[in-house]
Amino acid sequence: MTTILPNDLPHRERHQLLLSGVAPRPIALVSTIDQGGIANLSPYSFFNAYSSKPPIVAIGPAISAKTGAEKDTYRNLLDSGECTISACTYGMVEAISLASCEYPRDVDEFVKCGLTKAASTIVRPPRVAEAPFAMECKLMENIELRRDMAGNGNIMLLEVVAFHVADSVMVDGRIDPRKMDLVARMGYDWYARAGAANVFEVRKPTWNGIGVDALPDHIRTSDVLTGNDLAKLAGVRELPMYDGSFPTFDEDFAADRIDIELAAQRPDAALYVAMRDPSLRHDRRILHTIAQVFLAQQRVDEAWQTLLME
Ligand SMILES: Cc1cc2nc3c(=O)[nH]c(=O)nc-3n(C[C@H](O)[C@H](O)[C@H](O)COP(=O)(O)O)c2cc1C
Repeated sequence: MTTILPNDLPHRERHQLLLSGVAPRPIALVSTIDQGGIANLSPYSFFNAYSSKPPIVAIGPAISAKTGAEKDTYRNLLDSGECTISACTYGMVEAISLASCEYPRDVDEFVKCGLTKAASTIVRPPRVAEAPFAMECKLMENIELRRDMAGNGNIMLLEVVAFHVADSVMVDGRIDPRKMDLVARMGYDWYARAGAANVFEVRKPTWNGIGVDALPDHIRTSDVLTGNDLAKLAGVRELPMYDGSFPTFDEDFAADRIDIELAAQRPDAALYVAMRDPSLRHDRRILHTIAQVFLAQQRVDEAWQTLLME
């Protein structure tokens, strides 16, 4: 591990180090209107939500470290107090990259990057019609960050006054992240795509789990189970006891070789084979591997029973 102090790096390197480690960051596609009525659109990944009552988000437009110039978004927000923030999907990523070019103040980036304006209901700046999620915001406060030591950052706190959600991303009254296909910003020129193939659920225990420290030694020191596996096992409310009837199989249950069943992610069948072969029945690696497949299928009870069979 290398330890680096911020002041030991030139600005560009410090900037990219921070952005590479604080990642992936959501991207706000911010639309504002200048005093002449021209719309401006630019991406900001110094962006997040900080409160839901009331809903408060923030963006961090920097003053240029090279020229000292203010971003148009920053100036327009200070002047008008209003913006919209549209979410950025994979289908929009090249357009938002184009919108980040430093066009002159009188250039409408909607026109340049080919995204469509949709009228807002409360604020004046339009939102991006292609985005499945957008917010209308009012400036609450701008915080200048360490101008006393030539800091060039700002935090613009924005209160959300209206949300817009596309019907196409809603399932049973909730946004389904698989339908959003959002992109996020990493360091340098890297982006991440939170598409259907990459999003997953982690179920939070609704009680205080027993903790990894309370797992039996042969489980805690397993050379098969990963840190995620151990934490999932440690989320149970109390240490389970082995249930003598586990596992039970129907008379006509059939299985292939254990390696085939494990590769096919069929933990019940793998267990069936292991139970019938004395050399496998007490093989810790085999039992832990089967338990791991149960865990991957969110079948924590079966995983525990498999581990306790030993
Ligand atoms: C994905 C992405 C994220 C960005 N995030 C920020 C940011 O958080 N803060 C910032 O000052 N500039 C950021 N930039 C650069 C601005 O978008 C760029 O300077 C833009 O020209 C500013 O436009 P404006 O002057 O019209 O506001 C980002 C650029 C990209 C491509």
